[in-house]
Amino acid sequence: MKLIHVVGARPNFMKLAPLHRALHDSPIQQKVIHTGQHYDAFMSDIFFEQLQIPRPDFHMGIGSGSHSIQTAKMMIGLEEIFIQEKPDWVIVYGDVNSTLAAALVCAKNYIPICHVEAGLRSYDRSMPEEINRVLTDQVADLLLTPSIDGNENLKKEGIPSKKIIFVGNIMIDSLLWSLKWIEQNPESIQNAIQLCNRYHLKSHKYILVTLHRPSNVDDLNKLQKIIEVLGEISEKTPVLFPVHPRTRKMLEQLSDFQFPQLYFETPLGYMEFLYLQKNALALVTDSGGIQEETTALGIPCLTLRENTERPITITQGTNQLIGNDFDKLRYELNEIIQGRGKKGFIPDLWDGKTAERIKDIFVRML
Ligand code: UD1
Repeated sequence: MKLIHVVGARPNFMKLAPLHRALHDSPIQQKVIHTGQHYDAFMSDIFFEQLQIPRPDFHMGIGSGSHSIQTAKMMIGLEEIFIQEKPDWVIVYGDVNSTLAAALVCAKNYIPICHVEAGLRSYDRSMPEEINRVLTDQVADLLLTPSIDGNENLKKEGIPSKKIIFVGNIMIDSLLWSLKWIEQNPESIQNAIQLCNRYHLKSHKYILVTLHRPSNVDDLNKLQKIIEVLGEISEKTPVLFPVHPRTRKMLEQLSDFQFPQLYFETPLGYMEFLYLQKNALALVTDSGGIQEETTALGIPCLTLRENTERPITITQGTNQLIGNDFDKLRYELNEIIQGRGKKGFIPDLWDGKTAERIKDIFVRML
């Protein structure tokens, strides 16, 4: 059996790594296609190095563009590779444009598709990721869900139960593997330790921030207000903000601001970010993956979105939705600083063994 994994953007790489590792010693042949949606070394290469994923067999170098241009270029390139390689299954991950492009090409060419992280829904169709999720799931043949709410969402959309399997959250496989790696190889997080020393960040005494959703960063007024609250908080507790390329372009357009303990940095590698996350007092984010990682780590997370496709991080985990309510952001950050952050517990099958469960599914098909 021949599997092809398709990845393209930062949040795909930590989902690919554990499954690629699990399949390595199995009778299944596997190849990796990187569409090149993310191309900066710190958005892509560093993840392959740190998570020890072999170099992709195909690198398409698609790069940036409008969603249509990006998706169309990916589809043309992927079709050529699939026709040449004749995979038995194509595995796609998450909800980025690369995921949808690969799923559409497979559906048109009758190639079975497995979607890892199926069934998540924000029910907000203004998010490109929601469109990618819904359409990918509609054409997928095997839908592997990270949490049981995913199964319910898919059944409501008319997807037959026999195609859906609750396997658990593969992000947590990478997280647990990497925490162990960091413990055994402390040199892997030298850069993060240097940052902590440079900015005097003490364990559980700083706030870590990531923002990149168009709904937060493309609106300069909103971005300005977020920065003002973070700046105000930074007078009590340092705030570290590794900045996504999209956000950096927008921050450069804001009028001059300076807060003594609000520190902007370039995006960090996976290991460095995980280390900083594990030791943070709290996270402020609009990322999907970070809502899950903070729940797994037991760190309070304030999500600057009106909704989430990962509701289990709220019902069971440490996540809270803040929406556009900047007073709430300020209030909740102060609560956390005073030791009243949200506590939670770890959802079912977020146990580091999801990749093994997926491998078993494919091995049983042989
Ligand atoms: C994409 C995903 C999003 C994911 C995010 C994580 C889609 C629809 N969105 O959003 O779900 O949470 O990745 O990062 O697939 N850029 C660079 N260097 C890079 C990559 C991008 O400078 O390596 C710039 C692009 O030129 C563009 C901006 O960043 O201006 C956005 O990149 P893009 O891949 O289109 O979407 P993201 O916002 O990163």
